Amino acid sequence: MFQDVYGRRIGHLRLSLTKACAMRCTYCRPAKLSHPRNEPTLSVDEIENLVRHLAMHHGLHKVRLTGGDPTSRPELTEIIGRISGVPGIDDLAMTTNALTLPHRAREYAEAGLHRINVSLDTLNAERFAKLTGVDGLERVLAGLDAAEAAGLVPIRINCVVVRGQNEKDLPSLVRFAADRGFEVRFIELMPMGPLADQWADRYVPEAQMREQMDEVVCHWQPLEQGHDAARRYRVVLDDGSEATVGFITPMSCNFCAACNRIRVAADGMLYPCLMDKPAHTLLPALRPRFDSEQLDELIAMGLQQKRQEHPHDGFVVMTHIGG
Ligand code: GTP
Ligand code: 5AD
Ligand code: SF4
Repeated sequence: MFQDVYGRRIGHLRLSLTKACAMRCTYCRPAKLSHPRNEPTLSVDEIENLVRHLAMHHGLHKVRLTGGDPTSRPELTEIIGRISGVPGIDDLAMTTNALTLPHRAREYAEAGLHRINVSLDTLNAERFAKLTGVDGLERVLAGLDAAEAAGLVPIRINCVVVRGQNEKDLPSLVRFAADRGFEVRFIELMPMGPLADQWADRYVPEAQMREQMDEVVCHWQPLEQGHDAARRYRVVLDDGSEATVGFITPMSCNFCAACNRIRVAADGMLYPCLMDKPAHTLLPALRPRFDSEQLDELIAMGLQQKRQEHPHDGFVVMTHIGG
């Protein structure tokens, strides 16, 4: 297993399949709807070679597909099939905007996808359209139904909390999570993407998020964190129902000490950390022929740069590496 200089063992790969996304969330907003044609993109074979090697020789067991939005990658189903066929991968998950799920959830599940995390920042159709640039709340809700029916569970909802945009939506999202048996995670805005300049005005710290939920949550029972980015609680609501609520708080309480992840972007670039600049490209080890020794060297070299904590200057554009 690869280890970084702080002894953190890397068993989790976050793999971005494309920069493209059909949504334009205010805090993310990819520059273009389609993946740039002139950029190299890892092929299905190159992705499989990478994952297979890491799983066979370095204890990789968890892969998360991200983007942009992974569903914007035309070969997504094939990629899922290839990765799920790699021995040792016990958690194959995808983070998505859910727009394709009404039609494709079953196809993804049959190809071998285990579970999904879905971005959903409000249950109000008008605010949803404003926040994402797409009049698509109904479709996302239908996507969640389809994913549940296809067995892509447990389903986690990701809500980035932005002052003046959706901080009043938290109670209804907690109720929704309780009704549907989903886990909801509230994410502190990170100083990256189009709101980076206004970060100080838009950022809502965890403590204020919890105040917003006081009107519906009566009891917070902390759960164990492990390697998760989220600090999770089992909560009891005022009507006696229960839900799992998490907070992802890179700004006020970061979770770097337990970080076990590396990231590879669609163009083959290795990122030791979400918030840091890329180390270097893995392409020379992946094409024209797969070279396992060179790959090991490139990854080991990249991990030397993995810092103990992420920097706070928001260097990376989220669209490149999908969170
Ligand atoms: P689970 O495996 O279901 O726990 O998924 P996850 O929370 O690791 O992944 P997801 O893609 O759903 O990410 C949720 C939020 O956490 C997004 O806003 C990500 O940007 C953020 N996030 C994920 N990994 C990291 C990380 O290593 N560092 C930081 N700062 N944020 C992260
Ligand atoms: N701050 C926090 N989270 C963000 N995401 C995208 N941009 C930001 C940001 N500036 C999250 C989305 C999505 C995940 C991939 O990244 O909520 O769930
Ligand atoms: Fe697309 Fe996700 Fe970015 Fe929203 S946060 S624009 S859904 S990649």
